[in-house]
Amino acid sequence: MTAQDAAARLFQELTGHAPDGVWSAPGRVNLIGEHTDYNDGFVLPFAIPHRTYAAVGMRADGRIRVTSDHAEHPVEVAFADLTALFPKPGDTSLRVADAWAAYPLGVAWALRAASTDAHGVADAHGVDIAITSDVPVGAGLSSSAAIEGATASALNDAWNADLDRKALARVGRRAENEAVGAPTGIMDQMASMLGETDSALFLDCRTLDAVPVALGMADAALEILVIDTRVTHAHSTGGYRDRRDACERGAAIMGVPALRDVAVHDLERAEGLMDDVTFRRVRHIVTENQRVLDTVRMLREHGARGIGDLLVVSHVSMRDDFEISTSELDVAVEASLAAGALGARMTGGGFGGAAIALVEQDAAPAVSQAVTAAFAASGFAAPHIFPVTPAAGARRDA
Ligand code: GLA
Repeated sequence: MTAQDAAARLFQELTGHAPDGVWSAPGRVNLIGEHTDYNDGFVLPFAIPHRTYAAVGMRADGRIRVTSDHAEHPVEVAFADLTALFPKPGDTSLRVADAWAAYPLGVAWALRAASTDAHGVADAHGVDIAITSDVPVGAGLSSSAAIEGATASALNDAWNADLDRKALARVGRRAENEAVGAPTGIMDQMASMLGETDSALFLDCRTLDAVPVALGMADAALEILVIDTRVTHAHSTGGYRDRRDACERGAAIMGVPALRDVAVHDLERAEGLMDDVTFRRVRHIVTENQRVLDTVRMLREHGARGIGDLLVVSHVSMRDDFEISTSELDVAVEASLAAGALGARMTGGGFGGAAIALVEQDAAPAVSQAVTAAFAASGFAAPHIFPVTPAAGARRDA
């Protein structure tokens, strides 16, 4: 059974009747531009074929009920109580076992607030929502943005909120930041809402200008492999927030609103102004922003075959300067390159999750085998390796 059919069936089990509709949104990989989004910088992600589905139906009693194929039982709240559920970032009265529900309920809360701002109305009909997904969870492939995108798209239609895709991405990010409590940027939600087949999304995270850049992978006989290390991560704790703080410190020392405003030629001056750790965090962001611009130019002028070295330099910068890689991710990258990949890097927030490798289609089996063998030799659990093609963003499916 497809995840779409499973969502409709789960809805039927929950309510005893068919849903009004089914909406979906994809996970993503990021080709390049890591941790640049919350520095007002540039990113180049693409949506992947793995999607999360939300089967939704209206109810007349002003209550909202969510269930998921990952959950033990549904969670139900009165619509009017949503605000009390998310009094401050990450501080919810959901029980730990129900923490997953902060994603869809957070979206309902943020969407209602956004549409109130936009129209002066809050169309507070209740809803039932059943969620299923084939996006691997905790793998750095934005399973959370996929839930947010599917739920936001569904409620936008169900409530006639009439928000555009960028506004829905902002709704998803607000749910993530304030309901879930993960201090992330907006890359994942934008990729999930605006993804296009065979293109990456060149996104300016300051202006939210988004331009598709054709990848032409099939024509060039190239493929992107995802190497899921199966080391799971969570961005609501620890390292992610710490990196964000370091970036804000660096920007303050440089006297700019965000590291987006620091150029590569400013780095020499920056080095004299801050401690070594802060400087290396800053250097990663500043050079990574430039690498995104260089990658876009390379794709436009020469195609995907030319971007391998940029991917590798990006990985080294994350490993040595930003220090968000892990041994598993480093082995995935090194083994891919040794087996003939044109480029490879960790993707997403780091501290676990997945790497990507750009490979000749013909070389994909050899690269997969080499990475699997290198993981075994290092005593790591077997990785999950699969190809991805850039896919379409959020949509209504039924
Ligand atoms: C996570 C966050 C994104 C972004 C990446 C790192 O995926 O959700 O906003 O910061 O990490 O590039």
